[in-house]
Amino acid sequence: MPHAHPSDYAKKVVHEGRARIVVYESEGGSVPTKKMPVFYNPRMLMNRNFSVLVVQAFQKEMGRSLIISDPMAGSGVRVARFMLEVSGIDSIYANDISPAAYQQIIQNLVLNSIPSDRVKLSTMDANLFFLQRHQKKNDYIDVDPFGSPAPFLFNAFHALRMTGGLLGVTATDTALLHGAHAKACLLKYAAKPLHAPFLKELGARILVQYIYTVAASLGYGIEPKVVLSQAHFVKVFVKVKRSKTLALKNLADIGWVHFCPQCWHTTITRGKFPDGLINCCAHCGGEVQIAGPAWLGNLFDTKYLETMVDKCQREEDFPNKDATIRILEFMRQDHEGPIFGFHIHQLCDKLNVSGPSFEIIQKELAKRGFASFRSHFDPLVIKTTASVDILSEILRQANVQS
Ligand SMILES: C[S@@+](CC[C@H](N)C(=O)[O-])C[C@H]1O[C@@H](n2cnc3c(N)ncnc32)[C@H](O)[C@@H]1O
Ligand SMILES: [Zn+2]
Repeated sequence: MPHAHPSDYAKKVVHEGRARIVVYESEGGSVPTKKMPVFYNPRMLMNRNFSVLVVQAFQKEMGRSLIISDPMAGSGVRVARFMLEVSGIDSIYANDISPAAYQQIIQNLVLNSIPSDRVKLSTMDANLFFLQRHQKKNDYIDVDPFGSPAPFLFNAFHALRMTGGLLGVTATDTALLHGAHAKACLLKYAAKPLHAPFLKELGARILVQYIYTVAASLGYGIEPKVVLSQAHFVKVFVKVKRSKTLALKNLADIGWVHFCPQCWHTTITRGKFPDGLINCCAHCGGEVQIAGPAWLGNLFDTKYLETMVDKCQREEDFPNKDATIRILEFMRQDHEGPIFGFHIHQLCDKLNVSGPSFEIIQKELAKRGFASFRSHFDPLVIKTTASVDILSEILRQANVQS
């Protein structure tokens, strides 16, 4: 897509976190497009908030200063926020294929009084950038492309510190991961998605599985630290380590999901190559839909979540602070609860009832001795140790009483 000439666009200064950033205004104040001379999307604020918080947690874990690479830096907003908001950053390598972005990053570094010797700039294809950074001990790499990160992952691994680097990977092709374009997902992520009531968590788990597969092919194992799923993107933060032992151990966390569209009974089978997959629902005998392979292991490191909440609370003027802390709290519950939850509105539609509040549902589950959890993947999902039958009974009873 040809870029418009920079002079066709007006500029403005926006505040994000501790940074002030010169950005191009989108036409008519509409949603930013790839056509803009330099891309800055305010709707990706939460993506950047989480990069800042996760990198701080990683820095705390490593206990030393970090070298970061931002290979698709755009306006440089993330670079500026890392430098201003994260303690323990040694230096940042900032790159973007667009020369206009390169110019704007310089302008934004000056605007934020960031010393030029702490940020090394370049303008080239990200894959070339990764190869030039080969074995240069990058502690954190933030892969933030338009669409799928798949074309960049292989080389990103080569640029990461072998003994334990952190990779942040954004995918904005959520339609693929969430099952709207199942065939495209098969090609891009080598996995079958599902348009199921837990599609967002499944999509994130398919992306983690794909990152793992690339990692393992290069002799790396992974340890997911945080996974953030929002309306327009999925972002995965995984620690990677050159270790065939870890890569083999990870295999136990790859598996398949069986979903019965008739009764919603869902089961998982562990193993990339299991002895057999289930075709028939153990609950109602109906035909089940199969999705996968997907990552079925942990997605969150609770120590990271704690550090992130702490950092966010202490940071004055952290953007969208309350929403960020709420997401972190729901992530903690995602971690504690079962793998997939129930989409309450969809279940109410299926049962043809009008649902009670989430508070009432959770109280009723507790009365019957079942644990329940909220999910950051979807505010309309409840995870519970109860079966779909018990949950359905609660929804029906509440409907009669209301
Ligand atoms: C989604 S934007 C990144 C936004 C930025 N990370 C932020 O947080 O605002 C994607 C960026 O990647 C750049 N880009 C696209 N293809 C690239 C490639 N092959 N190599 C390097 N940069 C690329 C674009 O110019 C654009 O600035
Ligand atoms: Zn069934």
